[in-house]
Amino acid sequence: MKLPNIKILDESNKILRQVSKEVTFPLDKETKKLINDSLDYLEMSQMDEYIEKYDLRAGMGLSFVQIGILKRIFVISEELEEGFNRYILINPKVISRSEELIYVGEGEGCLSVNRPVDGIVPRHARLTVEAYDIDGNKFTIRVREDIAIAFQHELDHLDGILFVDRIDKNNPYKNKEFMREI
Ligand code: NI
Repeated sequence: MKLPNIKILDESNKILRQVSKEVTFPLDKETKKLINDSLDYLEMSQMDEYIEKYDLRAGMGLSFVQIGILKRIFVISEELEEGFNRYILINPKVISRSEELIYVGEGEGCLSVNRPVDGIVPRHARLTVEAYDIDGNKFTIRVREDIAIAFQHELDHLDGILFVDRIDKNNPYKNKEFMREI
């Protein structure tokens, strides 16, 4: 498998701070291809063979703003035992959030943040999101735990927010006792 030509912007690039715009349907061919290429890239980045071959950093989610396109689209590929589970969300809107907060014990990562970052990123444990699929059909999805975190991380990207922005600079582990570690 050949690595798709996906160039991911680094956090130093100001485009990442911009708010992405709603997408209109039908999607053009190029956008559909970028969606598939992004998912292929994410999946290869989670496979040892390709990590070595192409010197990749593993990632499960990518927003279009990270490839320099200010469209409200993100994709996630979750590695399961039987293969990968793909999520494609276009013009996503959060319908409801759980009160319960969680955080990734090891810390969150981002393909645009190429440095170690300490601290807690508070996230809702469960989330209901309304979005459109690649053909413009509206759907509702309810997610929890690590996928809920991935969704919130990518939703932030669409609004120009990076996970590092959500960590308290003076107290990176603030309010830890009120959240559940996953
Ligand atoms: Ni990210």
